[in-house]
Amino acid sequence: MLSPNEAALRLLETRRSVPTSQLAEPAPSEAELARILTIATRVPDHGALVPWRFIVFSGDTRHQVGQRLSAVYRLEKQDMPPERLEKFAGIMTRVFTYAPLVILIVSSPAPDAKIALREQELSAGAVAMNLLNATHASGYGAILLTGWAAESRGAAQVYGVKPHEHIAGIVHIGTPTDIPADRPRPDLVHLVTHWTPRE
Ligand SMILES: Cc1cc2nc3c(=O)[nH]c(=O)nc-3n(C[C@H](O)[C@H](O)[C@H](O)COP(=O)(O)O)c2cc1C
Repeated sequence: MLSPNEAALRLLETRRSVPTSQLAEPAPSEAELARILTIATRVPDHGALVPWRFIVFSGDTRHQVGQRLSAVYRLEKQDMPPERLEKFAGIMTRVFTYAPLVILIVSSPAPDAKIALREQELSAGAVAMNLLNATHASGYGAILLTGWAAESRGAAQVYGVKPHEHIAGIVHIGTPTDIPADRPRPDLVHLVTHWTPRE
């Protein structure tokens, strides 16, 4: 049997993204989700500003938000050729329904804070990573996506994301129907140097 530390390391070593097409029911239960989100908030946070928050979509709200996103997409992309517009507006209708649970990670920097904006945004990235690892450790699959639904200000209004906030990532969560092939991982040989003085 693996020691608890070894088991934790194996989980970190084996996390990989699961495409939305392979994320099925069930989603984490409410209790599991509360635990996952609690772990997600355990991140470096200079000044303890808590410069991030979550918006959760499950059940029918995933369809409702999709309808609204599609309408905003049509308004924002009026210059697009009609066929393409139809295709992508249709995708926006469905974009929150591929997985049973979708979580927006909102970067919510503290106004007038002495801590640099970049540091606050990095903290939101750390939240995203912890969320992915906690989801994996709970036996579920997930993937972090962005694209128009994360970048459009019109979409942000649909979610209730305020003007000073932005979306760090959209995390789709479910039960993997398959174990996806891993992708090649970076080789430390190209990434790590040991500093030595030049003179
Ligand atoms: C901020 C951010 C945004 C991303 N947005 C997308 C996206 O919109 N579409 C996509 O296919 N992958 C996106 N990715 C990549 C996936 O989340 C994931 O990293 C990739 O599929 C590799 O899988 P892995 O997590 O197993 O390394 C994004 C990654 C980051 C860090």
